[in-house]
Amino acid sequence: MTKSRTTWGRVVVLGGLAGGATVVVRRWAAARSSTAARGIALPRGRAVITGASAGIGEAFARQLAAAGFDLTLVARREDRLRTLAAELSAAYGIRAEAWPADLANAADVTALGQALAAADDLVLLVNNAGFGTRGEFIDVPLERTMAMIAVHVLATVALCRAAAPGMIARGEGAIINVSSIAAFFPSAGGANYGATKAYLNAFSEALAAELRGTGVAVQALCPGFTTTEFHDVGDYEAFDRGQIPAPLWMPAADVVAESLAALGSGRVIVVPGAKYRAIVAAANSPLGDPIRQAARAVRARWRK
Ligand SMILES: NC(=O)c1ccc[n+]([C@@H]2O[C@H](COP(=O)([O-])OP(=O)(O)OC[C@H]3O[C@@H](n4cnc5c(N)ncnc54)[C@H](OP(=O)(O)O)[C@@H]3O)[C@@H](O)[C@H]2O)c1
Repeated sequence: MTKSRTTWGRVVVLGGLAGGATVVVRRWAAARSSTAARGIALPRGRAVITGASAGIGEAFARQLAAAGFDLTLVARREDRLRTLAAELSAAYGIRAEAWPADLANAADVTALGQALAAADDLVLLVNNAGFGTRGEFIDVPLERTMAMIAVHVLATVALCRAAAPGMIARGEGAIINVSSIAAFFPSAGGANYGATKAYLNAFSEALAAELRGTGVAVQALCPGFTTTEFHDVGDYEAFDRGQIPAPLWMPAADVVAESLAALGSGRVIVVPGAKYRAIVAAANSPLGDPIRQAARAVRARWRK
């Protein structure tokens, strides 16, 4: 489809994961049935991924293309989106399109939302676009702070609001909101970043509860340190990854594989990586205060 079209095309019904395994997940919303969740083939249709020009979003695009989904790839760098769309279409026989948009721009979000609302084959929305800022709240330019709220929160809320009614009417679909482990650790030097991600967790948990029984699943994906371009762009251009212990870095492909595998589980808050699950569990235990202090100490190394 082109950006001017308002209705998305056919549903792709068949496909397999790279490696040949059939994608089978539990029913996305088990509550449609009063019995326990049971395995069914994930319906293949269109997946819309924001922030698909790099990192975690690109990894979602690659894994979903390999699984037979048609794709709409959203970000600002249109050249990258077009190259990726062409590569994945050729490799997997899917339909992939580039949708250039600046999600800090309300008009771009409105246009994308209108397309989502009109799409009859939308089965998955991944709200992934995001970025970080460095420095304390009073030192970060207000426009950067507001842009982060716009991209992480306002765009996500608007796109969920646009996509959910159609998914509910069709009785199936899923929304993945890419949050962060930072949601659990409010820290100096990341006041707005952690707060926007905490919003996404709270919003996703409540939305999942509201959509229970409709066939539409909601997930807040909370990665830890992930090897992407996140720490190469904007304020993080001079960031030294060596400040973070090597075992804490996860490949984007692993983060995405855990997210997709968890879609049918009924879990809303998904923390990829056993190490990070242990850290979050410990933070919620009686050891919570020392763990949070340690996390703040790590974070403080690059707060300026
Ligand atoms: N990497 C980590 O350690 C980590 C950890 C936890 C959570 N996360 C989260 O994961 C998500 C993806 O980040 P990443 O690590 O994959 O970083 P990345 O490699 O830098 O990718 C970020 C993506 O977001 C897009 N984006 C940024 N601002 C945008 C805007 N105004 N409008 C549209 N698209 C925009 C970028 O595309 P364009 O520049 O082409 O627009 C790019 O495709 C973010 O929400 C981030 O907060 C990352």
